[in-house]
Amino acid sequence: MPAQVKIFDTTLRDGEQTPGVNLNIQEKLEIARQLARMRVDVIEAGFAIASPGDFEAVKAIAENVKGVTVASLCRAVEKDIDRAWEAVRYAERPRIHTFIATSDIHMQYKLKMSEEEVFQRAVGMVKYAKKFCEDVEFSAEDASRSKPEFLYRILEGVIKAGATVVNIPDTVGYSTPEEFGRLIRNIRENVDGIHKVEISVHCHNDLGMATANTLSALLNGAVQLECTVNGLGERAGNAALEEIIMAIGTRKDFFGIGHNIDTTQIYRTSKLVSSLTGVNVQPNKAVVGANAFAHESGIHQHGVMSEKSTYEIMTPESIGLGQNRMVLGKLSGRHAFEEKLKELGYSLAPEEIQKAFEKFKDLADKKKVVLDRDIEALVGEKVSQVPEIFQLDSFQISSGNKVVSTSMVSLVRNGETITEAATGDGPVDAAFNALERAVGFSMELEDYRLGAVTEGKDALGEVTVRVTKDGNSFVGRGVSTDVIEASVKAYMNAINRAISELGENIIGKS
Ligand code: KIV
Ligand code: ZN
Repeated sequence: MPAQVKIFDTTLRDGEQTPGVNLNIQEKLEIARQLARMRVDVIEAGFAIASPGDFEAVKAIAENVKGVTVASLCRAVEKDIDRAWEAVRYAERPRIHTFIATSDIHMQYKLKMSEEEVFQRAVGMVKYAKKFCEDVEFSAEDASRSKPEFLYRILEGVIKAGATVVNIPDTVGYSTPEEFGRLIRNIRENVDGIHKVEISVHCHNDLGMATANTLSALLNGAVQLECTVNGLGERAGNAALEEIIMAIGTRKDFFGIGHNIDTTQIYRTSKLVSSLTGVNVQPNKAVVGANAFAHESGIHQHGVMSEKSTYEIMTPESIGLGQNRMVLGKLSGRHAFEEKLKELGYSLAPEEIQKAFEKFKDLADKKKVVLDRDIEALVGEKVSQVPEIFQLDSFQISSGNKVVSTSMVSLVRNGETITEAATGDGPVDAAFNALERAVGFSMELEDYRLGAVTEGKDALGEVTVRVTKDGNSFVGRGVSTDVIEASVKAYMNAINRAISELGENIIGKS
């Protein structure tokens, strides 16, 4: 076993395939920067040929995010490889990641290709990719359901053709830990040239075994582990980065291997991904769920108070939770605020710093103690950089248990003020209806989420909405100490996002 395992993060590619998730370039860049800060080894930035937006995002990450390998996925097809290379070529360490399915089911029903054709295509396309890029990863899609002999043969072929990494996906989350570990061991024992390349694994979570399968592969010789933050990904998702890392670290006695990850960035990364994707982390989720470090029963509380290790196998501080230090007060100046932003890892333009500073001052007036997580929430609102085609000027709500909720909103567009009123089933519904009237189009509200950024009655409320418009999904976020204002801001954010992506022609067409 090598001294260090490599972490290949595919949150921006497989993770983005989570139903309803649709990140823009700024959001992908922000996540990529945070992944680099957490020190993942490889960022799979996207699938360059999938759309112009995907291409631009991969390219922007390759050009701007340093200190990591940046990969683009591509089918084993020349035009896909060309596009992947165009997108990653300016990375400090570029990688082309090409794949083709190797199971009978996929070859027969999806590819409609024979074994021989798939073999020739895989080898030919790895050779083709090698003309551009030294670092080429080959994935045998649905490897765990492929005939072992064919899998060995194709792996030998691509290794001879120059692949540097061979990835063994459990594409449909079908395998079990013992079986998957055995597959990796058999590959090591039966594939010529396997010792010249890195073995990677990529496990899906359809039966809830993605992390276990990944760790079993590690014990049997895999040196690169593919995973996503919060376990996002197709269907039931991928193996969760935070689970793999904390398992390896907490049970170093068992796994006997290190990693490069700065675990104190795990919580922050999880929050950022959840907030930008709009996908909730379940409260009882291992490592990053809200209850992961909560002790409910009296016996447990007593134990933890006497000696933490009675019921805590890892500390909240080790994932960056509890480092929720008090920051500046209302008398703090701009310089101290800028220093705090730098310490938190933000690199904002001067006008963004000014806006964030104004919001901070505003918050410091309302809230006794401003914490790092408050600052992150305030700045996070700006990350998406959605053009404010409509700006919120003011809103008023009338609501109670014996009256119909009514809302009036005033928005500004191109210097003109538009005022509309509407009723609704509660204050939030009334406000959303008034906003839709003002912009002249409606959207389907798929999900509404309200959470407190920190503890306490004066905490910032953070609202995330997921809406659909003409079959496209958009996430909007808003924060405020007033939860109705946070809701209005979140819906406005989703409205502006829908307009900026679908075009101004949707305005006024309800
Ligand atoms: O699940 C899978 O097989 C994949 C490959 C394309 C790596 O995502
Ligand atoms: Zn996958």
